[in-house]
Amino acid sequence: MKILVIGGGGREHAIIKALKKNPLCSDITCCPGNGGISYDAACVNIKATDVKAMVEFAEEQHFDYAVVAQDDPLALGMVDALAKIGIPSFGPDAAAARIEASKVFSKSLMKKYGIPTADYAVFDDPAKVMDYIRTKNTYPTVIKADGLALGKGVLICGSEQEAEEAVKELMLDKKFGASGNEVVVEEFLEGPEVSVLSFCDGKTVKPMVSSMDHKRALDHDQGLNTGGMGTIAPNPFYTAEIAERCRKEIFQPTVDAMAKEGCPFKGCLYFGLMLTKDGPKVIEYNCRFGDPETQVVLPLLESDLYTIMKATTDGTLDDTEVRFSDGAAACVILASGGYPLSYEKGKPISGLVNGQIEADDHVTVYHAGTKIEADGTLVTSGGRVLGVTATGNTLMDALQTAYEASEQISFEKMFRRSDIGARAIAELNRKKEG
Ligand code: AMP
Ligand code: GLY
Repeated sequence: MKILVIGGGGREHAIIKALKKNPLCSDITCCPGNGGISYDAACVNIKATDVKAMVEFAEEQHFDYAVVAQDDPLALGMVDALAKIGIPSFGPDAAAARIEASKVFSKSLMKKYGIPTADYAVFDDPAKVMDYIRTKNTYPTVIKADGLALGKGVLICGSEQEAEEAVKELMLDKKFGASGNEVVVEEFLEGPEVSVLSFCDGKTVKPMVSSMDHKRALDHDQGLNTGGMGTIAPNPFYTAEIAERCRKEIFQPTVDAMAKEGCPFKGCLYFGLMLTKDGPKVIEYNCRFGDPETQVVLPLLESDLYTIMKATTDGTLDDTEVRFSDGAAACVILASGGYPLSYEKGKPISGLVNGQIEADDHVTVYHAGTKIEADGTLVTSGGRVLGVTATGNTLMDALQTAYEASEQISFEKMFRRSDIGARAIAELNRKKEG
């Protein structure tokens, strides 16, 4: 089996490590990959969004299967293009990827099929947005760019003035280009957030273990939004009762709705949920594995990832086992000082041998932004540099192991949050006492 993985961050590294547990999947190429991924796969420097170059390369290399991990190549039709040359892939085609790539599409899907989400209105005229927001006069209010915006297209506005600035940024200054041609104005929801990734084959949906992201840069959820500074799984707020409700009210209805709209979803559908006092609601859909959720979810997967992925492509998920361990996992991100704004690159990383810390079966270091220099030195090359994941019988064990392991690693101006999992532990303690 020759497998192509498209992308180059911690998520892709976690996918590759999980695939490699199957001896059939030893021959993996990652485009573009990164320094740390090159310990596990051949990395070839083709941009994930360069569909033409990727297809040419895939045809020449005769890959048997591709995993398209990143949102923008999915939205650009990478899966469609690979299918045309006879290479089956994991991931949705461009029509199904709209569930993430267009908020106007996903919101109207939810409205049409009665899937619980925040109330909203859509605008393409900046003046009309502000009229609407002034009339509503309820803050905070949430303004979202329609299209992909590197995870930065959601603005939570505490006042009319902030809303004006957001509208200017998205619609007039076009900070995210055409993504801001239309915006969605949404009711502000409150409650614990849960990420549920799920495998889908167009008809069947099999949810993975739940997880919790930590999006803000600093402890106690202070600082700017980032791609995610750490994750834990399972998410203790997501009880068996809530899971059952989500399955009935959200997961299966979404998959059925996509099929009815003529764009069945195959691949990993990510449900970003908020557990409000009125029940679970969808905050966002992503058409791919989450990053860094994947770094805690896949280490708990006991079934074979390749078999499941192939089943999503072939439409046989119903007959395929998707089993997770009862344990827990925690991932602590080590980031470059200054992230998510500007930061320096090229800092040598110490504490790793062949990309891993030594001799701990429960710890895996996933590389997000690393590079190997000509002389063999491993250096930083991104904002999020490494994700240190540990598994354990309990969340407390996993967190302790992940933090201890992360202390062995260092580079100049490295920073991490010190409170990953703290809210989850508090919830577990509350449950124990109650
Ligand atoms: P996203 O970039 O789409 O992942 O959204 C970033 C974050 O914005 C989410 O994780 C939520 O914390 C927050 N968010 C998005 N929509 C809402 C909403 N309607 N109410 C409250 N918070 C929201
Ligand atoms: N961790 C959030 C995302 O992948 O979008």
